[in-house]
Amino acid sequence: MSTRLPCATAVSCPNIALIKYWGSQDTERNIPANGSISITLAGLETTTTVTFDPDLATDRLILNGAPRSDSSLTRVSGHLDRVRRLSGLTTHAEVISGNNFPLGAGIASSASAFASLTLAATQAAGLELSPRDLSRQARLGSGSACRSVFGGYVEWHAGDSHETSFAETIFPPEHWSLVDVVAVVNREPKPVSSSTGHGLAPTSPIQTGRVADAPRRLDGCRQALLERDFDRLAAIVELDSNLMHAVMLTSDPPLLYWSPSTIMLMQEVVAWRKAGLGVCYTVDAGPNVHCLCEGSNAPEIARRLRAMEGVLDLYECRPGPPARLMETSAR
Ligand code: DP6
Repeated sequence: MSTRLPCATAVSCPNIALIKYWGSQDTERNIPANGSISITLAGLETTTTVTFDPDLATDRLILNGAPRSDSSLTRVSGHLDRVRRLSGLTTHAEVISGNNFPLGAGIASSASAFASLTLAATQAAGLELSPRDLSRQARLGSGSACRSVFGGYVEWHAGDSHETSFAETIFPPEHWSLVDVVAVVNREPKPVSSSTGHGLAPTSPIQTGRVADAPRRLDGCRQALLERDFDRLAAIVELDSNLMHAVMLTSDPPLLYWSPSTIMLMQEVVAWRKAGLGVCYTVDAGPNVHCLCEGSNAPEIARRLRAMEGVLDLYECRPGPPARLMETSAR
């Protein structure tokens, strides 16, 4: 008799949004207020193994080698509940998840965490979901995770229901060799989570205008990517990042994720571009600055960033692959 337990391992990469998700129509199901476009980041990976085990009395989570019993376990367990409901499985699971990049790297780990968890858990539970269904399912765990299911340049269609809110690749990784040079200026975890921030967005008087203008920015971004028009992309990406931070700053209570180094780097990037070096910035819910450029400019931008005061680490990421399954050894 086989004693093999239902088990699967999946790997996925985080992503950086060029047009950002900030605020939700439906906070329960992470239906966003506006669509978004991102680049899946190669080289940075979360690997997650899920094993459904009838001997377990509760779900277990081991994150980067340490057992967790805090809110991260509650969030993972809630996600497993959704997979159990879909598959009819009732057993608890052990989830072992690890990143090859530090949690304080300023790179959102919830996207790669929930994309890999969704793929591993649904596979282990015997569900063979299409990439689109995987994206919908990953979204329920963390909004931006629906984009990490796919590789390259990815658009998340906001939709207005579980069915209509999903992501898809709009250009493959090889379409344009953009690089995200991430300048880490603070390794601490962010003080206010994105989930809390999404909830505050409607309290800003600016959010309505930001959301109303999103289709125009999405069109402009798609077009700039299609034509590989860096100057057009730079203008839209910086505008979109500034709009999101304007909403954060004008929420009740206000959110300020920047540090003095963030502002200094944003100003430098704009000055470098004015002087002819193709680079632009985008900043997520944290102080670290993502500097986007064409591959040929990446070494010069990395060299300049490394020389700047306040820059602690640098990561250079190209457009990466979709979430994928790995061989899992039987238990
Ligand atoms: C600023 O996807 O992390 O990175 O759905 O609550 O998990 P939850 O939020 P999350 O929000 C991402 C916010 C952002 C912008 C973006 O990636 O689009």
